[in-house]
Amino acid sequence: TTAPPLDGAVGAPGVGDPYFPDLGNGGYDVERYALELTWQPDTGRLAGRATIEAVATQDLSRFNLDLVGLEVSSTTVDGADAEVDRAGREPQIPPASPIADGAPFTTEVTYEGVPTPVPDGTDLFEVGWQTDGREAYVVSEPAGAATFYPVNDHPTDKATYTVEITAPEDQVVAASGLLVGDPVAGEGTRTWTYEASDPMASYLLQIAIGDYELVDAGTFGDTVIRHAFHRTLADSAQVATERTAEMIDVLDDVYGPYPFEAYGVVAVDEPLGFALETQTLTIIGSDIARWGRRADDILLHELAHQWVGNLVSPATWKDIWLNEGFATYSEWLWSERTGGDSAAERARALVGTSADLDVPPGDPGTGELFITSVYWRGGMALQALREEIGDDAFFTLLRRWVDDHRDSTASTEDLVALAEEISGQELDELFDAWVYAPELPSFDR
Ligand code: ARG
Ligand code: ZN
Repeated sequence: TTAPPLDGAVGAPGVGDPYFPDLGNGGYDVERYALELTWQPDTGRLAGRATIEAVATQDLSRFNLDLVGLEVSSTTVDGADAEVDRAGREPQIPPASPIADGAPFTTEVTYEGVPTPVPDGTDLFEVGWQTDGREAYVVSEPAGAATFYPVNDHPTDKATYTVEITAPEDQVVAASGLLVGDPVAGEGTRTWTYEASDPMASYLLQIAIGDYELVDAGTFGDTVIRHAFHRTLADSAQVATERTAEMIDVLDDVYGPYPFEAYGVVAVDEPLGFALETQTLTIIGSDIARWGRRADDILLHELAHQWVGNLVSPATWKDIWLNEGFATYSEWLWSERTGGDSAAERARALVGTSADLDVPPGDPGTGELFITSVYWRGGMALQALREEIGDDAFFTLLRRWVDDHRDSTASTEDLVALAEEISGQELDELFDAWVYAPELPSFDR
C-alpha cells in the first residue's frame, strides 16, 4: 500500500518577529542559496537566478519567499513549474504537490529589474542594494536583502551562499566568503564566484562591485585576511586596517577562535556615515576609510560583530542590543587590553551624556533600532553584570554565549538564563533595571 496523499498546510508569511512580523517565512529552513547575478551599472538593472535549497519543517502545500520589487519570470520547485502569486513583498509559491515535513526541496527563481532600497524602519537610511550608477554594494540590516534576491529574510534562517556575479570587465567584485578561482571573461564582462561556506543570516551577505583593489593581508591562524579598497581610498584604508590581526588576537582571547573562513574590509566610494558588519567582509564608507588609525574603535566594533551578531545572531530584532551592546563592550575591552581606559571607566564616562539613555535597550521600538542607548546602555548593562558576577564568571559567560549559540540565534532571556547558570546568582533585577526599565540606572561604585 502507498501512503495517503499529503494535504499539507500553507507556510506562515512571517516568522513572528515582534518588530517586523512579516520578515522571514514559516514552513521551511533554507540550507543554501546559489545566486547568479548579472549587474548592468548603465541601466541599473540586475538579472538574477536564485537556487534555494531548503528542508520543509511541516507538511507544506505552499510557502512564501521575501522579495521587494523585481519581476519574477519563472519559478520552479524540484524542476516543476510553479505559478507564483505575488502578494507585495511575499511571493507565494505552490509546489506541484505538497512537500512532506523533513523533505529537502529546491526552488529556482529567475528574476530581473532595478533593485530599489527600502526604508530601514528608523528613517535613518534606506537598506538593500545601493548604487550611484557606477559602483554597487549592499547594506541590508535589518530587512534589505530582499531588494536583490528572493530570501527567507530573517536571522533565524541562516544558510550558506555561493554567489556568481557578472559585471562589466573593468569592475571588480568583492563578496562575503572566498573568491573561487579567477574571474571568467565573457563579452565585455567578467564573472566572479564567491563561496561563503559558514552559515550566514540574510542581512549579512555582502556583494560590492566597483573600482577596487583586492588586498591580500595574510592570515591569522586559518583565517584568510583580505580586503577590497576603492582605488581612491587604498592608502588610507590600508592604514585604517593595519591592526586587523592584532584585533582578531584580542577578540579570540575574549570570545574564542575567530569563527569564519575569512575576514576583511571593503571600503566603498561613498561617505556612508556608518559601517556594517557584513559577514567576513565589513563594509565601510570613504568617510571612515579616511580616518586612518582613528577608525580603530569602529573597526574593532565591526570585527567583534563577527562573533556577537553574526556567529550568534539576535533571535528577533527586538534583541538588537545583543549585537550592539556586545560590540560596544568589545571596544571597551580592546581599550582595557591595549593600555587605554578600563571598561568600567568607559561605561561610567557615558553616564549623563545623552537623554537617549533613558530608552530601554532591550525594547527600543521598531523605529529606534540603532538608537544610542542600544549601543551605550547595552554596553553599560554588560559592565554592570560583570561587576555583579565577577570577572571569572563574566568572561566564562562571554565564551559560553558564543559557543552555546554558534551558527544560530539567541535572545535576551537566553543571556539571563546563562548568566544565572554560570554565576549561581539571581539576575532578573539587574537585567530589568539595565535592559528593560526606561530610566538609566546608576553604577553603585
Ligand atoms: N550594525 C551597524 C553597526 O553598528 C549599524 C547599522 C545601521 N543600520 C541602519 N539600517 N541604520 O555596526
Ligand atoms: Zn554595531
